[in-house]
Amino acid sequence: MRGASTDLSLSAAEARVGRRTVLVGLGASCATLGMPRPAASVEGEALKTIAAGRGLTYGCAVFEKTLRDDARMREAVLREVASIVAGYEMKWRPTAPAEGRADYRAGDELLRFATDNGLALRGHTVVWHQNPPLWAIPRLHGREGEELVFAHIRDIMGHYRGRVREWDVVNEAVNVPEGRPDGLRRWGPYERGYDFLADCFRVAHEADPDAVLCYNDFGLEYDRIDQAAKRAAVLRLVEALKARGAPIHAVGIQSHLIAWYPFSQGVFRKFLADLAGLDLRIRLTELDMNERKVGGDIGKRDRFGASLVRRYLDAALDEKAVTGVLTWGLSDSENWLTGYAPRLDGLPQRSMPLDEAFERKPIWYALASAFRNAPSR
Ligand code: XIL
Repeated sequence: MRGASTDLSLSAAEARVGRRTVLVGLGASCATLGMPRPAASVEGEALKTIAAGRGLTYGCAVFEKTLRDDARMREAVLREVASIVAGYEMKWRPTAPAEGRADYRAGDELLRFATDNGLALRGHTVVWHQNPPLWAIPRLHGREGEELVFAHIRDIMGHYRGRVREWDVVNEAVNVPEGRPDGLRRWGPYERGYDFLADCFRVAHEADPDAVLCYNDFGLEYDRIDQAAKRAAVLRLVEALKARGAPIHAVGIQSHLIAWYPFSQGVFRKFLADLAGLDLRIRLTELDMNERKVGGDIGKRDRFGASLVRRYLDAALDEKAVTGVLTWGLSDSENWLTGYAPRLDGLPQRSMPLDEAFERKPIWYALASAFRNAPSR
């Protein structure tokens, strides 16, 4: 393979400091992605190790191209995380460029990277209103719309059957302000409501009977009237799915934290307990910290953001049904919030555990100490 190094031998010194796993992992990943092998420098315990000490899995969102092109990102991912999730590449639009034609090349590369390096790959996301393929959009209503969605579930989950162990089957289906009595979003395929979503989970289960099937959503974390209504609607939805015998196993709480929103540990714990009481596992699937309006110097911003992450995680990890935490990125070198929610002062957002130079920063330490303090699973 182009430029790949096959030399995985270690010096005695490297072996002594316990770098073996990391270096072997880097060599294997570089072979996969056709890149020269970078030097590794690893100090101290990684987040994945600290999390695993409590029975938790720590992971992050990645982009296949960045893993291929940026050796520092690759190194950091291999050092810190036990699972990865595709930021974009496994969504409907990029995987179905034309009707009847699937393109799983980027997802397959991510799966190869994960498998070569002993990481889990989380599947994200199958049914989502936000990016259906352009060719499908005019047809996404009525019976035809439902069938297009089912066909996509069968296709992608069939392709990854037995290899991607957990999927966000349905993402962001609740949108209370749109006024439907069931709280669902007004999107063509959702016309039949809970019954349709139950069918989505059934089709997913047929496509991969061993996969853990999740409902994933945002806007569930804060002590605000709109989010209270959304929590209630999500609880009604998962209850309705269970009542219909749908195979739903977990709920993903995206955890896009917003620095100036009011958070109540008690309110959030109660929501998690309600989900756990329905026999659902819980994951925090897209944790980050939007500090768009937070002023001050970098030190102050970082400490403030980290303290909020810590408070959030302390409440969340108290609930033993929460068994996984993923951040929506790993380093500020690729921070989606800088583009999506630009800071008022125009500076880059600092939402990730590592800074632009891949150094650990206060959010990293907030994750580490929250993991250390969590009760064991
Ligand atoms: C975002 C990605 O980060 C972007 O790169 C992409 O262009 C749009 O989607 N909730 C989700 C994720 O479930 O899939 C979104 O990811 C962020 C919000």
